[in-house]
Amino acid sequence: LAQIARWTAALSMVAAMTFAVAPSSAAAARPDFRPGAPGLGDPYFPLEGNGGYDAQHYSLNLAYDPATKVLRGTVHMLARATQDLSRFDLDFQQLTVRSVTVNGRQAAYARDGQELVVTPNAGLRRHSVFDVGVTYDGIPQPLGGPIVFGLPYGWIATEDGVLVACEPNAASTWFPSNDHPSDKATYSISVTVPKGLTAASNGVLAAQVTHGDTTTFLWNELRPMASYLVTTTIGRFDVQKGRTPDGLREWVATDPTVPGTEVVFQQTADITDYWSELFGRYPFEETGAIVDNVPIVGFSLETQTKPLYSAVRSETTVAHELAHQWFGDSVSVRTWQHIWLNEGFATFAQRYWTEHTGGESVQAWFDRQYATRPESFWLPKVADPQRDTMFDTAVYNRGGMTLQALRVKIGDEPFFRLLRTWAADHRYGLADTDEFITLAEKISGRDLTEFFNVWLFTPSKPVTW
Ligand code: ARG
Ligand code: ZN
Repeated sequence: LAQIARWTAALSMVAAMTFAVAPSSAAAARPDFRPGAPGLGDPYFPLEGNGGYDAQHYSLNLAYDPATKVLRGTVHMLARATQDLSRFDLDFQQLTVRSVTVNGRQAAYARDGQELVVTPNAGLRRHSVFDVGVTYDGIPQPLGGPIVFGLPYGWIATEDGVLVACEPNAASTWFPSNDHPSDKATYSISVTVPKGLTAASNGVLAAQVTHGDTTTFLWNELRPMASYLVTTTIGRFDVQKGRTPDGLREWVATDPTVPGTEVVFQQTADITDYWSELFGRYPFEETGAIVDNVPIVGFSLETQTKPLYSAVRSETTVAHELAHQWFGDSVSVRTWQHIWLNEGFATFAQRYWTEHTGGESVQAWFDRQYATRPESFWLPKVADPQRDTMFDTAVYNRGGMTLQALRVKIGDEPFFRLLRTWAADHRYGLADTDEFITLAEKISGRDLTEFFNVWLFTPSKPVTW
């Protein structure tokens, strides 16, 4: 009887625990399906990106015909739900959607401005991984407006193909995605084009297959990449592949109508190797370049592993875009207001390349800027330049000057250790200005509040720092 009593007591304890715990754990586990937010609340681009999931991998299957300018695509995104989802958005505009699937089943969808709203026929539980497929077609149009000085950017059709340069928000004009740098993912990109053309993209070329009168290029970028850095630039290109002196894979495509491109392969090799020494191991599997001939595009872009050069071509531009592979591509902005962490760093690096190769020192450049820039140059806040002026000269030059002033203040050895530590600590990740200030103070052992206040947050010319 004593034994039975003990068992009974034990059982009732278990029962009590079960009943005490079970209802609340059942409540916690009961799904609470709600729509994911239509944006991530970026102060400059509130609707870019979407809430409720985290993209892991994209598989792009595209076909482009320059004669009709029609793009046909099926894109799959593998994502992890970060809440119980009744529905969620992708960023996708302009093109015609033919079908949407979630985990292989047809899903309902609606268009709402730049949002593609997807409602799966069953809710998606938090933490579950799901696949969304979108099939679409249409003629993508570039974006314009004040952000890039009224110049077109994004999907820019050319006579024999297309140049694709999407910073900051044009990825959604040609493939559905979570279009914000804070949600990086890996990519497999397959592009089918008329035979004779080359489709240049990010990562490593895994296959190139000609079948009848088309060729399919399959690219894999298996390191995290922000959506704005994805390119599928198509044209008649000369292709050169090999290795840098330090043994890194390199792939360069040049438009044969552009004069003087035979130096690009060697420049890219030498600069990539040198930055790898200065900033730490190169973050990706391959380096390279895509040199197109599209004068209407007045900028270059640090498309991951293969910067894209259009009308702007010089050795220092190559140095700038390759520095972005560390600062911008591997270490990405948490939100767009921190753009100086990309452009200020790449500008400093570009000037440092000139100094390193025996040209003007960064300090001489700094002094020149300091002496000659008009009052208006000093007005933007470098660490929060506002959306329509996010690529203002001040973001580049005053941003670069900030780093040179810091270099002088803390000394070369700690300064370059800071850049290396920054690249290592945030490798493949995200970062913001406060985190940089914190690290600079830690490495230098100094209070730099006033210094950064004057350089990054004050809308006037620094006097003492
Ligand atoms: N990040 C580019 C650079 O290297 C600038 C791009 C400006 N143009 C644009 N479409 N976002 O400086
Ligand atoms: Zn740049």
